[in-house]
Amino acid sequence: MSGANASARQPARRFSGPARAALSLLALLAGAPVLAAEAPEVAQACLSCHGEALAEGAPPIAGHSSNYIQLQLVFFRAGRRKNEIMQGVAEGLSDNDIRALGKYFASLPVPDAKPPADTQPDLTKTGETAALQHRCAACHGDTYLGIQAAPRVARLPEAYLAKALGDYRANTRPSSGGAAMTEVAGSLSDADIKALAHYLAGLP
Ligand code: HEC
Ligand code: HEC
Repeated sequence: MSGANASARQPARRFSGPARAALSLLALLAGAPVLAAEAPEVAQACLSCHGEALAEGAPPIAGHSSNYIQLQLVFFRAGRRKNEIMQGVAEGLSDNDIRALGKYFASLPVPDAKPPADTQPDLTKTGETAALQHRCAACHGDTYLGIQAAPRVARLPEAYLAKALGDYRANTRPSSGGAAMTEVAGSLSDADIKALAHYLAGLP
């Protein structure tokens, strides 16, 4: 993506020249030929961690709702959601950047990553039972692809899922939706978190 900065500065209304090249590359990265919302220049800075290859423990963000993405960026910027990397990133974002980033990443298709081969089917079963017990699907949907304020949690990286649940439980991450996740995570044991993360990461 080097050299993209200068060209992205020009208005890219008609998706021509370098802008089109950048957009088709993004569509390619996201794995589907959709017409994405215009990529704001500031989105280039996100792709090293949230692009096709994930880095630094970052989850995929393509296809989350614009509201969810914007909220998380505001939480990071305000220091209410703790993460050194993302607090540093969000610090430099204006409200307009945040709106544009939310709209842009929400317009990209959900990555259709295949679940990893399940080497621990017993843990998967335990996770499925825990998910039923705690009624996770009531908010996240039967296929865990998300409903309204509750984001997609199917096939996110296992380590990220475990960290997210631990962060809600430790209250180092606020939850929208009337503190829904703070309440849910409060009743989870370490073993529950491990099993739930394994189950959700491996959903077909
Ligand atoms: C150097 C790596 C890196 C860069 C660059 C980066 N991020 Fe992140 N991002 C992360 C990590 C790591 C997390 C997970 C934080 C956590 O565990 O709470 C994250 C989390 C997020 C989340 C929350 C996702 C969720 O499912 O809750 C959003 C939204 C996000 N980043 C947006 C962005 C945007 C927009 C940019 C560019 C302006 C960006 N990030 C740049 C590493 C990065
Ligand atoms: C009452 C509704 C509700 C229930 C029940 C619920 N969730 Fe959530 N969940 C939400 C909402 C709303 C969010 C977004 C919170 C935020 O702003 O961070 C969320 C966020 C999450 C995230 C963060 C995703 C990310 O990308 O960072 C994970 C993981 C998660 N939920 C897993 C679960 C699991 C596992 C269960 C069952 C044990 C569960 N949820 C039950 C509403 C719910």
